Amino acid sequence: MTGNVSVAILPKLITPTDLSQSTVIVTDVLRASTTIIAALSNGARDIVPVAEIATALALRAGSTDLPFGRRLPRTDCPIVLGGERRGVIIPGFDQGNSPLEFTPEVVANKRLVLCTTNGTVAIEHCRGAKRILIGALVNVGAIAAEVADEANLCVVCAGTAGHVTAEDVLFAGAFIDRLQIGDSRRWNLDDQAILASDLWRGARERVQAGVSLSEQLAQSRGGRNLMELGYREDVEFCGQIDRLPIVPELDQEQWVIRGVAATYKH
Ligand code: MLT
Repeated sequence: MTGNVSVAILPKLITPTDLSQSTVIVTDVLRASTTIIAALSNGARDIVPVAEIATALALRAGSTDLPFGRRLPRTDCPIVLGGERRGVIIPGFDQGNSPLEFTPEVVANKRLVLCTTNGTVAIEHCRGAKRILIGALVNVGAIAAEVADEANLCVVCAGTAGHVTAEDVLFAGAFIDRLQIGDSRRWNLDDQAILASDLWRGARERVQAGVSLSEQLAQSRGGRNLMELGYREDVEFCGQIDRLPIVPELDQEQWVIRGVAATYKH
């Protein structure tokens, strides 16, 4: 059976209705999707992605109201607010958006409400897709293994403030590369998927020539922003392929992201 892989290098290049038959992998390598994966790996009970600061603050104050008429299931566990605007912690929040901040001490057995400029907005944009998973370089193999039997896949890149950013497209290429290791003839790629694959092949060649993936990430639009803000360690962390083999999936009814046990071993 053949399958289709498409890529949207920006969310606005795809409409939610186009996604109703697709399993979507939302990526914001620097840093929202890596942060989600890190927080779940460190024991967060679940993660609530929200686009608006006001929604996040209201949830901590006890509201269960979410956009689009949804209601968050109540929890008896503590709530941690994480997120950023222009890369730095939002006033009144507990944490920023660094994957390194969400240690077991900070998130284990807690609900993380995460509000970021691009990543959580991209997740909201994809509501109505058949499934919504969260991918980054740190879990690329686990994601590819999870969806290997699906018919229609779409990688949605969060981008940065409406602009394409290379690290998200690199993830798309790395993901397609992993899928194709299983069976290269099974997958039909759309044009953005072909572009992503080519970008990834170039990145791999540069790694072989001695330029690490993290160094390459540091040169992208998102990477340059973070380097200017002093987040070199975050960029290095986000460039580690397969470091955290966990598969986060959004339960669209409850609007919480939980970890699906990964079948992938590296
Ligand atoms: C976002 O979602 O906009 C980002 O992850 C930005 C950041 O981490 O600073």
